[in-house]
Amino acid sequence: MKKIAVLISGSGSNLQALIDYQIRANYQITLVISNRPNAYGLERARAAHIATSVIDHTQYSDRTAFDAAMKQTLDHAAVDAIVLAGFMRILTPEFVQHYLGKMLNIHPSLLPKYPGLNTHQRALDAGDTQHGVSVHFVTPELDGGPAILQSVINILPNDNVETLQAKIHLEEHKIYPLVTQWLATGQIHLKDNQVFYQNTQLQQPLIYQNLTS
Ligand code: GRF
Repeated sequence: MKKIAVLISGSGSNLQALIDYQIRANYQITLVISNRPNAYGLERARAAHIATSVIDHTQYSDRTAFDAAMKQTLDHAAVDAIVLAGFMRILTPEFVQHYLGKMLNIHPSLLPKYPGLNTHQRALDAGDTQHGVSVHFVTPELDGGPAILQSVINILPNDNVETLQAKIHLEEHKIYPLVTQWLATGQIHLKDNQVFYQNTQLQQPLIYQNLTS
């Protein structure tokens, strides 16, 4: 059983999906860290009897000091992997390097499209007909780590930021536990900035819709 830490800043609906999947998974969430003391995800963790830690970034002089506190907490908990689930802080390259290959993020776009914020609005503004969500390994480049699995949705004429957000969340809750399970069972790994799935190098991210069809 692999020990997982989940890092959050807010609602934690992805954390909830990871918790709900645990019962049939090879991972156990042993720690939830929030940089915001009032993040609702902390309630979700407590309800599931998972240890929580608040590391409030406003209490640290700079990113390096904040990341050092996180590293200390994570190393003390001796987790095998770290899952970022709506964690809204940029991590220092040193921190990322320390956990390289062991840290996942979920990003609401079809990476490499739209790294950063406001992804739904940007997809609408561009007139895209498809949008989606990506789970990727975290590397020092923000939202730039290689994507592992993506779920694709169609953008319909009536869609707006809210409807896209809702649709994307549903997809997130399906694909994030799955990829976390793959990491826990060694089905994916990162080598030379490339993703290997079942020991084969991916030329492009896997697509959830192709897995299940
Ligand atoms: C998700 O949309 C995720 O893609 C992004 O932050 C959001 C977190 O939502 N990185 P939640 O806190 O898991 O509900």
